[in-house]
Amino acid sequence: MCGITGYTGPKQASRILVDGLKRLEYRGYDSAGIAVQTDPADQRANALTVIKRVGKIASLRQAVPKDLSGHCGIGHTRWATHGEVNEVNAHPHADGSNRIAIVHNGIIENYLSLKGMLEHEGMVFASQTDSEVIAHLVAYHYDGDLEAALKAALKHLKGTFGIGCVCSQEPGRIVGARNGSPLVVGVGDGEMFLASDVNAMLAHTKRVVYLNDGEVVSLWPHDFRISDGDDQSVDPKIDHVTWELDAIEKEGFGCYMEKEIFEQPDSIERALKGRMDSEYGLAKLGGLNLSKKELHAMQRVRVIAAGTSWHAGLVGCHLVESIARLPALAELASELRYRNPVVEPGTLYLSVSQSGETADTLYAMREVQRRGGTVLGICNVVGSTIARESDGGIYVHSGPEIAVASTKAFTSQLAAFYLLTLSLARMHDMSHHDGSLFLSQLKAIPGLVKRALEQRDLIQALAKKYCHCSDFLFLGRGLLYPIALEGALKLKEISYIHAEGYAAGEIKHGPIALVSPQTPSVFLVPNDHLREKTITNLKEIKARGGPVIAIASEKDLEVAAIADDFIPVPDCDSRFQPFTMIVPLQLFAYFCALELGRDVDQPRNLAKSVTVE
Ligand code: AGP
Ligand code: GLU
Repeated sequence: MCGITGYTGPKQASRILVDGLKRLEYRGYDSAGIAVQTDPADQRANALTVIKRVGKIASLRQAVPKDLSGHCGIGHTRWATHGEVNEVNAHPHADGSNRIAIVHNGIIENYLSLKGMLEHEGMVFASQTDSEVIAHLVAYHYDGDLEAALKAALKHLKGTFGIGCVCSQEPGRIVGARNGSPLVVGVGDGEMFLASDVNAMLAHTKRVVYLNDGEVVSLWPHDFRISDGDDQSVDPKIDHVTWELDAIEKEGFGCYMEKEIFEQPDSIERALKGRMDSEYGLAKLGGLNLSKKELHAMQRVRVIAAGTSWHAGLVGCHLVESIARLPALAELASELRYRNPVVEPGTLYLSVSQSGETADTLYAMREVQRRGGTVLGICNVVGSTIARESDGGIYVHSGPEIAVASTKAFTSQLAAFYLLTLSLARMHDMSHHDGSLFLSQLKAIPGLVKRALEQRDLIQALAKKYCHCSDFLFLGRGLLYPIALEGALKLKEISYIHAEGYAAGEIKHGPIALVSPQTPSVFLVPNDHLREKTITNLKEIKARGGPVIAIASEKDLEVAAIADDFIPVPDCDSRFQPFTMIVPLQLFAYFCALELGRDVDQPRNLAKSVTVE
């Protein structure tokens, strides 16, 4: 959660910090602030000027004087964990003498005992946050060297953090530290940047260094120095970001979510590109870091993920088990970590995460690795922690996803699972011929998704009709059950309408009690052996007076006739229907939210990248 920015160089720091925060706003947006080392000549403040505001970055931008001097500073956009959302609790936090200011992403678990100790030493706390202890601890240890003081402070901290820190007595210097929350250094020409993700600095530099846990960095305009937990200096590996700045612009769309939904034909294409070997009916996945023998020796698959990525994992496991014939299960990362899991040899773990920073997923994956498990990452963000710490993996290449509600990353994750399924299946009992057929069907997906998007106007009209209902059921079977879960999650997240995703066959075991004329059910009807069963479930709802919106193949005239409303999707092999079925659900959620006047890209209480447990 939360975004951190830092700048030191010749330019006006406040503007760069606020612009950077704007790019990170999707990471947390309840309040924001900056701390700048102001020029001594500036009348407005002592050496550190701290400005904070509740709400979005726009209100911070308004509060920052246009001519605020200062060439070095730090910024933060918060997703509160400890202490309510108000100006005092917003970051940066300063020590009592306003000499040290810090920004923090994460949670300091032992902050209460540290606070007690520091209060005993006479320090006075202003906020209710866990983070403020860091400022006081650094001040307590400060003896002319900010890095030394921060390192001494870190020894006391339990929990997770990405920290940025400045001191009024060391002009031009920023110190950062990372343990569990992402932090990246941007290397410019006579200027340096610090941020919790590269989007904040993309307008200035594409040369970045990803910090590892335990590392501390000092930045000056012309230099930076990284050291590890043992105080040994680290040779920095400079990576080049391949995303262009326009990839994080809205490009004429009303909001990022809309742009990302409509980008899916291209993003799926990117996920598949160069990975399909039609001649041999194979998938080419270069980054797995497993030999053919090692991959062949895998006897089962386990997915670790959260939220939408878990839904992609459920689809993936269904595919792996039914097509590649390996037992497969998708597990919620937050559950796996604490249940003392058995990690059997011959198990291929897949850590699925758009951001590659989700704390639950990262910690569960580390737990599996600690027990000797092999973990591959299926990530979107290149250089993210999960991508770096996994033993190999598949980048899904959907490009930056900015809207909090994940859409294009989901379909790209699906694409990665289809490729992996093909790889595994071809090692077991899928023939060359069947592999080629599978690939030709996969190749057609971007075109089918494009056609599914053509139902935009119909879906907008349905959203208008139904958006004032306060409860929805989303129902599907087989491969479409996880899609029902995902459809319900999308609606909840951005429209705040209560929605339950359920296995259609399970509805009669309880949830059918919810059915009423005010509770619409969205049915996903497949075109395979589960079609009849799903239609039976649909009729059970109709018989009890529940309105039904059905999504099925455009050829399915029977379903079109029974449902109250019908959304046709392009016909395809049922194994690939998750792609065509999710599109109308994403659009439905989007249009409901729009209709209800919600903040589609930044829904209440959420943040894009959940880096706390
Ligand atoms: C998706 O719309 C949600 N915002 C959320 O469930 C998300 O998928 C989850 O937090 C996992 O994120 P990740 O893919 O970055 O790990
Ligand atoms: N735990 C800190 C707070 O509540 C930091 C939260 C964040 O990562 O934004 O202020």
